[in-house]
Amino acid sequence: MTDVDERHPVIKPRRVSFDWSDTPLHWIPGDPVATHIINSFHIVLPEGEKWFIQCVKDARPHISDERLLAEIKGFIGQEMVHARSHQGVLDRVLAANGIDVSPITEQAARGNAERPARMAELKKRSPRAWRRRLRFELAAVAAIEHYTAVLGQWIMDNRRLDADGADPTMLDLLRWHGAEEVEHRSVVFDVYRAMGGRYPMRVAAWAVSLLFLYWALIGGALYLLRRDPTVRGPVTLPRLYRAYRRSVRRGHVPGIFRLLIGEAPVYLRPSHHPSQICSTPRALEYLKRSPAAQAAGQAPS
Ligand SMILES: [Fe+2]
Ligand SMILES: [Fe+2]
Repeated sequence: MTDVDERHPVIKPRRVSFDWSDTPLHWIPGDPVATHIINSFHIVLPEGEKWFIQCVKDARPHISDERLLAEIKGFIGQEMVHARSHQGVLDRVLAANGIDVSPITEQAARGNAERPARMAELKKRSPRAWRRRLRFELAAVAAIEHYTAVLGQWIMDNRRLDADGADPTMLDLLRWHGAEEVEHRSVVFDVYRAMGGRYPMRVAAWAVSLLFLYWALIGGALYLLRRDPTVRGPVTLPRLYRAYRRSVRRGHVPGIFRLLIGEAPVYLRPSHHPSQICSTPRALEYLKRSPAAQAAGQAPS
């Protein structure tokens, strides 16, 4: 396993599927707050990952490096399966338990549906402005991909959720996804650089992405808790914060606020490259025993 090339691991999608029929709404038993903080990712990821794919597809015709092109193909395949799998949670776990997130996801889907025409129009008007816009979006995706890899490593390493009876299907989804995020963590960063992306824009897009992630996690958790028919009483920000601190102490969620800002010195180092963080062998080791990846028949040997 030590001979894995962290810059260029082989990236290929695994056509996994999940059966949600036995997954309860509070898939972390007795901890609706941790459940819904993590559920926030299920809200943003399906459309978010479709946007990642659009950005990378826009850049692809401008890339000549054969190896990066092959990685882009694997990246697109993986993100498509991720988006579909998280949509399954929205439909079969949240909606099935009376929590409808479609007002948020439909708005995001409209943004994605309108984006190609908007970008084409911009390209016609000003190729320079189009390139600058695409670079900024790629830099934002690269920053988010840093966090999906770091959080993926966290969920793979976490043992407290298993010990406290978290639903094994949900854990497998999150760990399979996290492992593939670790596998393909360099792709968008490399695409950004291949498109001429430089350091100052990387910093600016990181700051925007960080604010987006805080907003998505806090807003998403509040939205879900307020619609959860089993949660009693008003869900206020102080109440959410107190319960969140308890969940962190129990090891059900990472200290997300410190974790996100704490990555600044890593991600903002001018010489940073994603291959310097996380571990592909650890990700492959999980994928080897992931029930979903095994069932898909494509676990790495
Ligand atoms: Fe993903
Ligand atoms: Fe990703």
